[in-house]
Amino acid sequence: MRPASSFLQSYLSKDQLIINHFLSSIFKAFKSNQGGLVEVKMRQSYSWLFNVILISFVLLKNVKYGSAGITSTFIRSEWPSIDIPLDNEAFAVPEGHNAPQQVHITQGDYNGKAVIISWVTVDEPGSSKAQYGTSENKYDFSVEGTMTNYTFYKYKSGYIHQCLIDGLEYDTKYYYKIGSGDASREFWFQTPPKIDPDASYKFGIIGDLGQTYNSLSTLKHYMQSGGQTVLFVGDLSYADRYQYNDVGIRWDSWGRFVEQSAAYQPWIWSAGNHEIEYMPEMVKS
Ligand SMILES: [Fe+2]
Repeated sequence: MRPASSFLQSYLSKDQLIINHFLSSIFKAFKSNQGGLVEVKMRQSYSWLFNVILISFVLLKNVKYGSAGITSTFIRSEWPSIDIPLDNEAFAVPEGHNAPQQVHITQGDYNGKAVIISWVTVDEPGSSKAQYGTSENKYDFSVEGTMTNYTFYKYKSGYIHQCLIDGLEYDTKYYYKIGSGDASREFWFQTPPKIDPDASYKFGIIGDLGQTYNSLSTLKHYMQSGGQTVLFVGDLSYADRYQYNDVGIRWDSWGRFVEQSAAYQPWIWSAGNHEIEYMPEMVKS
């Protein structure tokens, strides 16, 4: 009886060596009842069977501890990649005077115990306060954030608010409320689990999203996947395709478009080439 190859042996843990020994004993017991040519044939076939069983044990052991992903069967449709019109409900402006829009969160520290909430108000600067807590409709804490705005060519941004909330507990659902009066809005997010090699946390990776009908289908598909955080690999809105009087408008529509996910879970950003905008008079090179 040959031992398993040294390559395999190097992957075997103690419990598998016990199995190895057990199977070897069965094989020896079997062999002692055979003789001559029969033994040689049986030995070959049982050696093969033994290897199959052994490899199965090795592979099955990895099923428990392994982290093999699942490949989605999703294939996007053949819809034309044209931008969704601005009056489409995908870009709906929330109702109410100065209601927060384009609400999105990102992770606020390296450990997962902080979140940055951002939103835009368009009628007036308004409040940069965020209230939050662990029960719905009951906000035990509040923080005061900052506000900024900018102009670029003919585009004038809304009032952009940002709040850092930190000292959060792991694996906890938090509710938050922003805006004032009738136009206030409420959202929630779940903090990640405590950092651990075996902690389960499901990321989505999205890039080149844009705001076409295909973008909508991609976003809806992602939202059904159960992903808990998006790693965004660049090229967000493709607003740079709009020039002159339309500069910047498609950034705001895109912000309203992704809010349905980005207000409820961290999207972690990196920038792509479409985030570089040029003055309309300049030629891209
Ligand atoms: Fe791209």
